[in-house]
Amino acid sequence: MRTLIAKQLEAEFPIFAFSHCRDVVAAVSKSGGIGVFGALGKTPDQLDMELTWIEDQIGDRPYAVDIVVPATSLDRDEADPGAQARLEAMIPAGHRQFVEDILSSHGVAPDPDSTRSTERVGNSAAQIALVDVVLGHRPRMLVNALGPMPKAVVDQVHRAGMLTGGLVGSPTHAERQRANGVDVMVAQGTEAAGHTGQISTMVLVPQIVDAVSPAPVLAAGGIASGRQIAAALALGAQGVWTGTIWLTVDEADTDPVLKARILEATSTDTTQTKSMTGKPNRFLRNDWTDAWAAPGAPEPLPWPLQLKLTNPAMARINRSQDPRLLGTSVGQSVGMVNTARPARRVLLELVEQFTEAAGTMTDLLDEV
Ligand SMILES: Cc1cc2nc3c(=O)[nH]c(=O)nc-3n(C[C@H](O)[C@H](O)[C@H](O)COP(=O)(O)O)c2cc1C
Repeated sequence: MRTLIAKQLEAEFPIFAFSHCRDVVAAVSKSGGIGVFGALGKTPDQLDMELTWIEDQIGDRPYAVDIVVPATSLDRDEADPGAQARLEAMIPAGHRQFVEDILSSHGVAPDPDSTRSTERVGNSAAQIALVDVVLGHRPRMLVNALGPMPKAVVDQVHRAGMLTGGLVGSPTHAERQRANGVDVMVAQGTEAAGHTGQISTMVLVPQIVDAVSPAPVLAAGGIASGRQIAAALALGAQGVWTGTIWLTVDEADTDPVLKARILEATSTDTTQTKSMTGKPNRFLRNDWTDAWAAPGAPEPLPWPLQLKLTNPAMARINRSQDPRLLGTSVGQSVGMVNTARPARRVLLELVEQFTEAAGTMTDLLDEV
């Protein structure tokens, strides 16, 4: 697994582990992989604290940071201090009532914090502001989801000696990333957790490899075993980028009720829904996603309005612990995740399975 990107990042294994939980990021990086800290939802001070903690844990080992600045958003007038309040006012009363009806029909209590602010939710300027925090630390790579980082940010990150990366779901996305100077493509298939397109990993990865060669490509979406890592490298990827498999590791701060649901779920228990953010997101199917998919349900609003609408509702659902409504972004590989184990064990098992799969393929050549 000594691919170019592994050598460049000085990682033992080019296995990237996306997580919003710093303990998972640190555990993976300490074990020879590359933890990726998801910064979405963090304030600059919180992010600074989290990255300081991670670096204290892992020393010089490599890790990365991920932000979410969408290429298309209604949130464009970033210099205007009243912009977020105006966006909030664009949410129709009918949508608010629809959400209230879902929650009240499940007995979810009102929010004790009635002044909860959605000012930072889906706020592109707030995400961009996190870049300065990242540059004050020493991750090896900064990655953006939902479109290329602005060219000025790419240049800033390069000047700090870090690589830039972008999640892509089609060759057109990859071309846009390359036009802005982004180094590493994360080719993420439709089976992945989170915001995904329509093309499967198996079909997407070779297309992205061909489109951007010799730029490095990481395969993402559905990868939960070392056999799949061998397949990804055979497709031309230089590494893999994973998310779902880390939700249930011992270190993960995933809600225990949700963890149990994830461990039980099969690969058909996910759905691609716009009901969380306004953009297609692969999510654990539950009463919330079903309600938005039912006949007569309102169309989800465009980003960031849907995010601002759902964010306070999710806080209420999390407090209620109602298993019918608790959910998370999750990929189809959820059906392959059936036991909770330490992150190190999961990582080393991926490596063992990869070695075995690569050996099997080499044996095939010997027999020719
Ligand atoms: C709970 C969860 C939240 C996610 N949030 C983000 C995010 O904020 N930014 C991002 O780039 N990707 C996010 N992703 C997607 C991952 O980065 C990764 O591409 C995906 O999980 C890979 O597919 P897999 O889940 O099949 O392994 C998230 C994934 C999960 C499981």
